[in-house]
Amino acid sequence: MSWDPAQYGLFLDQRTRPAADLLAHIRLDAPAHIADLGCGPGNSTGLLATRWPKAAITGIDSSQAMLEKARKTAPHIDWQCADIAQWRAETPFQLIYSNALLHWLDNHAVLFPRLLSSVAKGGALAVQMPRNFDAPSHRIIASVAQSAPWAAKLDGRLRENPVAAPDYYYHLLSEDCEIIDIWETSYLHVLEGEDAVLNWIKGTALVPLLAALDDDEQNDFICELAARLAAAYPRRQDGRTLFPFRRLFFIAYR
Ligand SMILES: C[S@@+](CC[C@H](N)C(=O)[O-])C[C@H]1O[C@@H](n2cnc3c(N)ncnc32)[C@H](O)[C@@H]1O
Repeated sequence: MSWDPAQYGLFLDQRTRPAADLLAHIRLDAPAHIADLGCGPGNSTGLLATRWPKAAITGIDSSQAMLEKARKTAPHIDWQCADIAQWRAETPFQLIYSNALLHWLDNHAVLFPRLLSSVAKGGALAVQMPRNFDAPSHRIIASVAQSAPWAAKLDGRLRENPVAAPDYYYHLLSEDCEIIDIWETSYLHVLEGEDAVLNWIKGTALVPLLAALDDDEQNDFICELAARLAAAYPRRQDGRTLFPFRRLFFIAYR
């Protein structure tokens, strides 16, 4: 997969809003060591550093391109390259925070207890994941990717819905947690510009699919998606496009 900080950054304000909303609900006074999993270009990490300027913060991502961008914006933060699917902290963190990464990883039944085991007693695991896999954008991606000629090329690349209902995470983590604060928010992202929803998903959901196609194929695939997305998410007369988006949040305190 090849994550592109420039494409991701097209809507950085809208993408950072849930990161800020998650952070605003964390009830920890002064966590000394914080990890930001899937830190991307450093936007979510920057929020953590502003709230807790004395904390030692580690931003972790598997994309060198994202980390390069992050390093330029905040050289004083410890940026590390790792695959969170395999990651375990060497010493526990008071806060493990992750905005918009963990829906990319499978087997949540194993993943979340493992992440929680890297949180120090009295600390917290704070997570935001999109829970919009039944939205028109995802249904359109699936329908085009499963049709000819794309089905053969994209076989195995389409992600199944990896995010369960909120009570699943409550049951999963409640044995090891004192308190779990869990909620959903449906945003109405207001996007500027032409083909806004297409440009949004080019920075995220389409990343693994486009990685399997050559340049000409990418153009054809994107053309097919563009028309269907424009019909599902019509651009308003003022040039803006409304993009409803449901997200799941939880903060699990050990
Ligand atoms: C949607 S971005 C989130 C960026 C940022 N946290 C934010 O709040 O906007 C997801 C990030 O997760 C990273 N990522 C995807 N799979 C990963 C994995 N297995 N391990 C570590 N990082 C991963 C991507 O490189 C990307 O930077």
